[in-house]
Amino acid sequence: MKIALSGIKPSGLPHIGNYLGMIRPALRLADSYQCLYFIADYHALTTLHNGSELRSHSLSVAATWLALGLDPTRNLLYRQSDVPEVMELAWILSCFTGKGLLDRAHAFKDAQAQQREISAGVYTYPILMAADILAFGADVVPVGRDQKQHLEMCRDIAQRFNHAYGDLLIVPEALIQEEVETIPGLDGRKMSKSYDNTVPMFLPAAQLRKLVMRIQTDSVPVEEPKLPESAAVFQLYRHFAGASDAEALAEKLRAGGTGWAVAKQALFDAMEASLGEARTRYREIMGDADKLAGVLRDGAERARALASARMARVRRAIGMGSSA
Ligand code: TYM
Repeated sequence: MKIALSGIKPSGLPHIGNYLGMIRPALRLADSYQCLYFIADYHALTTLHNGSELRSHSLSVAATWLALGLDPTRNLLYRQSDVPEVMELAWILSCFTGKGLLDRAHAFKDAQAQQREISAGVYTYPILMAADILAFGADVVPVGRDQKQHLEMCRDIAQRFNHAYGDLLIVPEALIQEEVETIPGLDGRKMSKSYDNTVPMFLPAAQLRKLVMRIQTDSVPVEEPKLPESAAVFQLYRHFAGASDAEALAEKLRAGGTGWAVAKQALFDAMEASLGEARTRYREIMGDADKLAGVLRDGAERARALASARMARVRRAIGMGSSA
């Protein structure tokens, strides 16, 4: 069976951008791929320097996958930091990664443009991401569009390695849902923890409703016709409610006489219909720390077994240890 692999950074609570852009499509792969979904906690360390928050967000990411139906016995759910082979591979791959490649990374260039302090971790982020993928021989990587460049870099790094040692690493394909554009946040920019504009998936209903009501809209008066497609609230609604309900709401908005508050309420209702039950399960799972720890322990063990088999071949190829 082919392998699908993807990760989420626990730098905050999982949000509906993660859900629509990656988690929902990734869950649909569970019948046709062996799925390896992990918590990219070392990646979160590039921005989050608070141990208890990082640990608690990691558990939230794990509980989110389970609440949405990932079966951890058929698939693998693990923490990146529980698989040290990934870090070892990251060093090896760094010797096959040109500085020019890293200089072109959007994430690094954005940080530079905003004059943020750039750590070596931010700069080498794409190498660790390549190691996450290549250590497991993933065939496909379901991601949102914002990760496309990272996947291209991973392919490039794998090809350089393979050029020296033969086809040892599997060159993965990105799996990007073409119909899911970048999901907008509260302010209309890309929903992102770093913009502080996210809608966390499993907020209590009252808090979720409050947040949905805060989504920015234009100030066209209620009676005037509106442009639904340009509004974040409508784009989000379409993903939760589906095409035909979205078209019905769009017609009302275009006709005038329907205010944005109506669209926000419709979005909240559609989110409750999609995620309400999963929120109950999420709470239960978060309340059972031992069970959650057990799932992650089991995932770590099985993930290490996979990664260490591949790493033994890599070590041999590059000339480490004995050749036998
Ligand atoms: P992260 O944690 O930022 O996001 C997790 C997944 O959610 C998708 N996503 C979005 N999709 C659409 N619209 C949005 N506004 C939006 N925000 C987030 C992301 O595309 C991603 O698929 N570098 C990765 C984590 C990672 C990884 C990996 C992924 C580390 N190693 C190896 C795949 C394979 C990241 O920061 O994702």
